[in-house]
Amino acid sequence: MTVRLIDLAPTPARLLDVVLAGLGRTPRALPCALFYDAEGSRLFDAICALPEYYIPRVEAGLLRAHGPAIAALAGPGVEVVELGCGSARKTDLLLEALDRPAAYVALDVSKDALLEATGRIDRAFPDLEVWAICADYTQPFSLPAREGPPAKRLAFFPGSTIGNFDPDQARRFLGLVARLVGPGGDLLIGADVPKDPAVLDLAYDDPRGVTAAFNKNILARINRELGGGFDLTAFRHLAFFAPERSRVEMHLVSERDQEVAVADQVFSFRAGERIHTECSYKYSVDVFRGLAQAVGFTPLETWTDPEGMFSLHYLRAR
Ligand SMILES: C[S@@+](CC[C@H](N)C(=O)[O-])C[C@H]1O[C@@H](n2cnc3c(N)ncnc32)[C@H](O)[C@@H]1O
Repeated sequence: MTVRLIDLAPTPARLLDVVLAGLGRTPRALPCALFYDAEGSRLFDAICALPEYYIPRVEAGLLRAHGPAIAALAGPGVEVVELGCGSARKTDLLLEALDRPAAYVALDVSKDALLEATGRIDRAFPDLEVWAICADYTQPFSLPAREGPPAKRLAFFPGSTIGNFDPDQARRFLGLVARLVGPGGDLLIGADVPKDPAVLDLAYDDPRGVTAAFNKNILARINRELGGGFDLTAFRHLAFFAPERSRVEMHLVSERDQEVAVADQVFSFRAGERIHTECSYKYSVDVFRGLAQAVGFTPLETWTDPEGMFSLHYLRAR
């Protein structure tokens, strides 16, 4: 089969507005979705291969170990809808475990990564109907009207990407997902849990500097796509766990007083001034189950690894 593409062209028109608004506010902050152009997706894959970044390794282990239980809960012939698929490395484990899934619908803002991932899945599962939707999942989008009888939907949101929303946004987003899958539909979601700050600090600030390059890619992207004037050597990567908010924060810190032009606006940075680029909230199992329950899901199962590093939740929409 061939991959069917629906391209909602999510970024270019809004990019300038979003960047100017983010750099203009106090404190300065850019949305983390901006990390993910082709280069950002490539760097995120490199992060996933780092020994310090435990999330993909532990989550894949949970999918492998609990594939049969996941398949039993999902039932046969489901339509899998993956939100923010990236390179979809863990998706194979889910699709292999499920009983004859009807379709795989992948959604991502990063078009190159989306096309590469869905092309690979299409080749690996030749009987599966594969759709690629290039869209921003925080903006309105609809799922493809597929031919044939309607199938039960199983949304898949791995990688602890839910942690990139603040708790209010996460509640709103999970509510949207509950409506997307409809009553009786399911969500399989990975959520990272709070742990030793030293482990988290290293996971988000690796000695090889891959995460630093990923963080700085947001500035490189502004230079590439908007003709911005950021000197990448004049900003440094900063990542730390803030226990009072149960989140890892990533920032870019200005190394000196400087002025940077983006389009026709000039932004003045003082030495030490930060641009906040990402939050990664960490949820204990109970807190996450409570949050899911509050927005219309019934938690059916939660799996964690023996070290309690990560959690995988199977939820059903009421
Ligand atoms: C943390 S990565 C996780 C990738 C993959 N799901 C995994 O578990 O390895 C987040 C993914 O979501 C995508 N993404 C981030 N914000 C998005 C948005 N607002 N709309 C659609 N995709 C988004 C990124 O392009 C990236 O592929």
